[in-house]
Amino acid sequence: MGNNVRNASGKLGILMPGLGAVATTVIAGVASINKGLAQPIGSVSQLSRIRLGKRTEDRNPLIKDFVPLAKLEDIVFGGWDVYADNVYEAASVAKVLEQSQLDSVRDVLEGIKPMKAVFDRDFVKNLDGTHIKSESTRRELVEAVRQDIRDFKKNNDLDRIVIVWCGSTEKYMESGDAFSSLAKLEEAFDRNDQQIPPSMVYCYAALKEGVPYVNGAPNLTCDVPAIVELAHEEGVAIAGKDFKTGQTLMKTIVAPGLHARALGVEGWFSTNILGNRDGLVLDNPDNFKTKEVSKLSVLEEILNGEKNPELYGDLYHKIRINYYPPHGDNKESWDNIDIFGWLGYKMQIKINFLCRDSILAAPIVLDLALFIDLAQRADMHGVQEWLSFYLKAPQTARGLPAEHDIFKQLMKLQNTLRHIMGEDMITHLGLDYYQELIETIQ
Ligand SMILES: NC(=O)c1ccc[n+]([C@@H]2O[C@H](COP(=O)([O-])OP(=O)(O)OC[C@H]3O[C@@H](n4cnc5c(N)ncnc54)[C@H](O)[C@@H]3O)[C@@H](O)[C@H]2O)c1
Repeated sequence: MGNNVRNASGKLGILMPGLGAVATTVIAGVASINKGLAQPIGSVSQLSRIRLGKRTEDRNPLIKDFVPLAKLEDIVFGGWDVYADNVYEAASVAKVLEQSQLDSVRDVLEGIKPMKAVFDRDFVKNLDGTHIKSESTRRELVEAVRQDIRDFKKNNDLDRIVIVWCGSTEKYMESGDAFSSLAKLEEAFDRNDQQIPPSMVYCYAALKEGVPYVNGAPNLTCDVPAIVELAHEEGVAIAGKDFKTGQTLMKTIVAPGLHARALGVEGWFSTNILGNRDGLVLDNPDNFKTKEVSKLSVLEEILNGEKNPELYGDLYHKIRINYYPPHGDNKESWDNIDIFGWLGYKMQIKINFLCRDSILAAPIVLDLALFIDLAQRADMHGVQEWLSFYLKAPQTARGLPAEHDIFKQLMKLQNTLRHIMGEDMITHLGLDYYQELIETIQ
């Protein structure tokens, strides 16, 4: 084991604000896997291997056997929601998984009931739930969430807790003065500033309890200087933002390939239809704006028109999301990509991805929870950029551009795991194999 990583002993609590489609799909999935009814497909932490040492050594353990992660059977789930439905009921409404699959783990799901939410309708207009905390100030709400966390830990006999935001996308906000330093944020709490979004109340409470926080939505939440400062002060790991599923996943797979071969792109038009509650929330322009900002940055960073004007200087990038109830959670996306090659000759790529949003998101939630718990046990505090592999708009150190190319993100993730465990980094240079060959011949 690495020098400073503490073992994953005892039970890990995963608390999620927002027990909707994504959260219930994770919970039902882990329950099914623990009953031996399914496999954790899509979870890198559970099914992917990592190469260690030289290619010739043939050391390729499963990641879960290489780093000390919490075991799936040691996880206890919980959360908050503005609707009082237990997880079985909420999963039945979300209709991501088949009813027979939910019924096979019904006992586990019915046992998980949401705690009352911190909610302010000003941030999510299209929801009208009433399972909401009655405390009136943002400070009192922080205290209530802190109490929830402590009670959950005690009642379930947990060793550690992590929080993953799976709540709705809040309305767009910029990182204003109130969030520019921890002192300013404290003042904002003192005057009960209504600019503080509910997600930040959970996040602030988590960090004060020493609980790592991951943000699965595009809300800023922990991506403001005040919260980064708090994370360092409390010695807690944070990561965000916005789970990378569906269309953006495809973009960060395809765009690096086009860029790698110096093929030009002059247009990328992306449109989506989806009919789940997430789609309903995003039907509101303020909430869509938050998502749009998160999705747009991806191509700009990978293709970088400023540095490569001949190839990407005129790139026109457009994203649309349309709420279309008949599709439910089965999102359909179309991408029309206008590319050009040798001597400027034009070509087109069309991608029609009939994906299942929450099926793609669920293993991401699991991996993020397990890895941020690992980071915390390795005393890695503040922003965990190595988890950007899973995120659409990765949070980085201030001023540092995010890395969106999924292959570089994977390398960063794997090298971080090697680093934690005291293994050699892998650069893929490979010249040493040839040097050795020459030496054996001579
Ligand atoms: N599904 C995906 O593939 C995907 C990908 C990237 C990001 N996300 C983000 O993940 C989040 C969850 O997605 P989903 O499909 O499960 O949505 P969902 O609408 O099914 O679930 C969100 C839940 O959060 C609850 N909620 C809203 N505000 C809350 C608050 N303040 N406190 C507690 N609960 C609150 C809602 O009542 C709802 O049950 C969304 O923000 C979405 O944008 C999802």
